[in-house]
Amino acid sequence: MAEQTRHLVATHKALTQAASLLRRGHLVAFPTETVYGLGADARQGEAVAAIYAAKGRPSFNPLIVHVADVPAARRLAVFNAQADILAAAFWPGPLTLVLPLKEGYGLSPLVTAGNPTVALRVPAHPAARALLRLFGGPLAAPSANPSGRISPTTAAHVHAGLDGRIAAIVDDGPCPVGLESTIIGFDGDIPVLLRAGGLSADTIEALLGAPVLSPTGDDVIAPGQLASHYAPRCLMRLNARAARTGEVMLGFGDIPGDLTLSASGDLTEAAANLFGHLHRLDALARPIAVAPIPMTGLGVAINDRLTRAAAPRD
Ligand code: TXA
Ligand code: MG
Repeated sequence: MAEQTRHLVATHKALTQAASLLRRGHLVAFPTETVYGLGADARQGEAVAAIYAAKGRPSFNPLIVHVADVPAARRLAVFNAQADILAAAFWPGPLTLVLPLKEGYGLSPLVTAGNPTVALRVPAHPAARALLRLFGGPLAAPSANPSGRISPTTAAHVHAGLDGRIAAIVDDGPCPVGLESTIIGFDGDIPVLLRAGGLSADTIEALLGAPVLSPTGDDVIAPGQLASHYAPRCLMRLNARAARTGEVMLGFGDIPGDLTLSASGDLTEAAANLFGHLHRLDALARPIAVAPIPMTGLGVAINDRLTRAAAPRD
């Protein structure tokens, strides 16, 4: 079902238009500080179903619900004491909390894929915040890429993946963080890291004064964590000191590449460049060698994405 995908530069007028498209059940991609999201009204089952269709996403994968502020989040889920502290400290921002869903507040059950919990986030990006205020409700929004492909950090990435499948793309330039949000769930009251992301676990632990648990066992707690998520088309080789014949090189620190995540070894700069550089190297259709990235701070999330991108797949 091909449709004309509108390109909307993020002015007030365009955001009003985007909000109206969303109210009518259409899909609109919009920028957040992490990556571009593919938004739909989280209360309209058919609109949410259209997200799965546009992305070609396995239907068991629940979606993050984006809201304008903390009170809006509280209307949808039951907060524990630790969640209160995290929301106060890090919202708006690149943090998603998975909490028990309050029934009867109108979310389509497709959003949570039937789970008794809901993933909530208050994004910080000015265009996302303005859109949420104008829309006036919860927006389900996974990353705006075809399922299993690299997450989009520019409007051009979204066009490349989803043109003709969605109503509009709100363009407000590149995403400043460049990595998806960190997802925290709870085992009782104890925070559990479900996905490393744009807010480092160290920062969360420093605030709480306690360690954040990692999930144990083979349970797929956040189904987006399937091994070969974020895959580029090309083969990847990690922890490479130099490119081999035929490979293109993604550099970091003192290992230079055809493209370099951060020549100064700055992990924040590397995170912001990660998906954009992978998109550009992938377009060259050659195997990609990737320099080692330290496992500290945001390096944990960067390595997580790279490992998944390099995982064997069918
Ligand atoms: O930065 C982000 O988080 C971006 C922007 C657009 O906000 N969104 C994003 O959404 O990355 P998505 O759909 O690509 O990833 C959602 C992740 C998946 O791994 C999913 O399984 C997990 O959140 N998730 C959603 N609801 C959940 C729930 N109730 N319990 C456990 N995991 C959940
Ligand atoms: Mg995604």
